[in-house]
Amino acid sequence: MESLRIITEEHQNLWRIATTLDLVADEIDQGGKVEAPFFSSVFDYIEQFMDRSHHAKEDEFLFRLLRQRSAEAANVLDRLQAEHRNGPELLRDLRAKLTATAGNGEHNAAFTAALRNYTQGLKGHIRSEEKDAMPLAREALTADDWAEIDKAFLDNDDPLFGGKARAEFRELFHRIASLAPESIGLGAHSAGSLQPGTATGKGDVLLSVKGMESCYGRIKALKGIDLEVRKGELVALVGANGAGKTTFLRTLSGVQPMSAGQITFDGEDISKLRSDLRMRRGICQSPEGRQVFGPLSIEDNLRLGAYTQPKGQVDGDMEKVFSMFPILKEKRALPAGTLSGGQQQMLAIGRALMGRPKMLLLDEPSMGLAPLLVEEVFNVVKALKAQGMTIFLVEQNAFAALAIADRGYVLETGSITLTGTGQELISNEQVRAAYLGM
Ligand SMILES: Nc1ncnc2c1ncn2[C@@H]1O[C@H](COP(=O)(O)OP(=O)(O)O)[C@@H](O)[C@H]1O
Ligand SMILES: [Mg+2]
Repeated sequence: MESLRIITEEHQNLWRIATTLDLVADEIDQGGKVEAPFFSSVFDYIEQFMDRSHHAKEDEFLFRLLRQRSAEAANVLDRLQAEHRNGPELLRDLRAKLTATAGNGEHNAAFTAALRNYTQGLKGHIRSEEKDAMPLAREALTADDWAEIDKAFLDNDDPLFGGKARAEFRELFHRIASLAPESIGLGAHSAGSLQPGTATGKGDVLLSVKGMESCYGRIKALKGIDLEVRKGELVALVGANGAGKTTFLRTLSGVQPMSAGQITFDGEDISKLRSDLRMRRGICQSPEGRQVFGPLSIEDNLRLGAYTQPKGQVDGDMEKVFSMFPILKEKRALPAGTLSGGQQQMLAIGRALMGRPKMLLLDEPSMGLAPLLVEEVFNVVKALKAQGMTIFLVEQNAFAALAIADRGYVLETGSITLTGTGQELISNEQVRAAYLGM
């Protein structure tokens, strides 16, 4: 049932887009400008991705076979497929209303009303697929059916659905995040590129933690944590609010005392090392809640991240960070407090990169961000991983984190309760129920 996982993931992207459209509609109703390029990108994405490829695949495979196996499904599928057929027409109407807003402001209200109507329909459609159609499919379809459907969904050479098409959709999504108004997207005008990195030798154990305990007064917040991170890996630590994720990171970087246990990093026992020396060894953290220094300029915030580094390399490293996050370059002289939440997150990650990490620690980078930016932040994490960076990602947003992680650990009130590959954990019933709300 790999196909259902893919469909669900795509639904999450579409849901983010719908939520973003609602937020932008609110801004327009409050007098905001209609950013035509932003909407055009969104409509392109929906047209190319949802109407042409996502729906087509569902209709041709999942829904066709489900009709054959379940008489009960006919009603639901009739409605869902009518909505699929209707999609392009609604989109044409939205594009026409968008064009009309160029004439004068009166048409803005008609446009935002149509937008809201559209997003409501989209969300209802997604909900019905997941709540009505998918359970029926899980029940009624045979193993052979699933094999056929999965094959179609996993076909990498498919011109509409394969690897190449997906890369294009991703590009478009990236564009949407940078074109969205600053409060919701990044408000950057170029997409940004990454420097090709120097991948370190993969596979060796970089970090090994054994029996880590840490207390607040008499309360034990970490009750004996064992975990391991290998070079080049992206490892996620997920768990509910209060599980001890931040405490773990703070104990690892040495700002929170460890009452028992051992930390080995890059072959060295660092259990008793001061925090600034751990940073020199290459453990650099982007902290929870970003903690950028608001009154200081963006440039000075980045310099702070390099305080353990030789002066000579700082300017060059800053240029690398700027090439990754062009919006920071545009605003380099401004106080960091003037940045939007998403931009501050980019700054916090950039600041950590200035310390030339061997292992990058990220504490809830998606926290408090608009849904569209959650995607964007995880893109940054993926891109860093692709450069060969070793990353330890802490998240409450388990789905997004596990989706990109090589491996994951589930933390519950100070103990690791589950571990496995990202995909294993995403499909684990216990994890789905507890963290993914499914
Ligand atoms: N400074 C503190 N003093 C006392 N208890 C704390 C402190 N910080 C966190 N805790 C407690 O430790 C537990 C773990 O917190 P934390 O590591 O912040 O969890 P998470 O990051 O997973 O949300 C929670 O029960 C929290 O209330
Ligand atoms: Mg935390």
